[in-house]
Amino acid sequence: MKKQYLSITKIVPLAALLLIFISCKRDNNYTGHAYFPDMAYSNAFETYGSSPVYSDSIHMMLPVEGTVPRGMIPYQYAAKSFDEQQRAGRELVNPYEPNKEVLQRGKEQFDIYCAMCHGPQGNANGHLFTSGLFPVQPTSLRTDYVQNKPDGEIFHVITQGSISGLMGSHGNQIKPEDRWKIVTYVKNGFQVK
Ligand code: HEC
Repeated sequence: MKKQYLSITKIVPLAALLLIFISCKRDNNYTGHAYFPDMAYSNAFETYGSSPVYSDSIHMMLPVEGTVPRGMIPYQYAAKSFDEQQRAGRELVNPYEPNKEVLQRGKEQFDIYCAMCHGPQGNANGHLFTSGLFPVQPTSLRTDYVQNKPDGEIFHVITQGSISGLMGSHGNQIKPEDRWKIVTYVKNGFQVK
């Protein structure tokens, strides 16, 4: 009887099959072998890792003390102080006229950042309050109490929050020019004229 050898036509598909099976790994975190990794693995340092170059620092070096980013004007009036809120009201000047463009932008920003508490028309009936999610009724922005405040005082409340802290600071979310536009919208009847 003739001996049966594995011919090349059988070895190749068998080897391929074997390869397919052994290339499966159950570990989902294993990324597999890289044939040509090129730049897949970065040698960059971690931003907050300690630095072998600057022995006293992390990689992202701390800014020099007392410096501010370009274009940033540090806010000069302290939070949670009625004196400071009133001082802001006396000293800060709203740079905007109530024209259509300013009021339109003010409305957009008010609807995003204030309406859920103070209500779309400032009547203290925002959804967060009426739904019971926010436990305290916000101040109505249509009262003389608010309407008689100088623009700078409302700007201050947006920037630093209310004195009690019940309304939080919006200084990090809203750009100064948009804060002024919100103030303009609040002081001009909550409408785009
Ligand atoms: C999370 C709800 C909430 C949001 C959002 C909010 N407020 Fe208030 N706001 C309040 C509450 C509550 C008070 C009353 C706080 C107090 O008496 O300490 C208040 C008070 C005020 C006052 C009166 C401050 C004073 O001196 O008595 C003004 C003005 C005001 N908010 C404007 C705004 C504007 C403008 C925005 C949008 C940028 C805004 N608020 C966003 C809840 C909110």
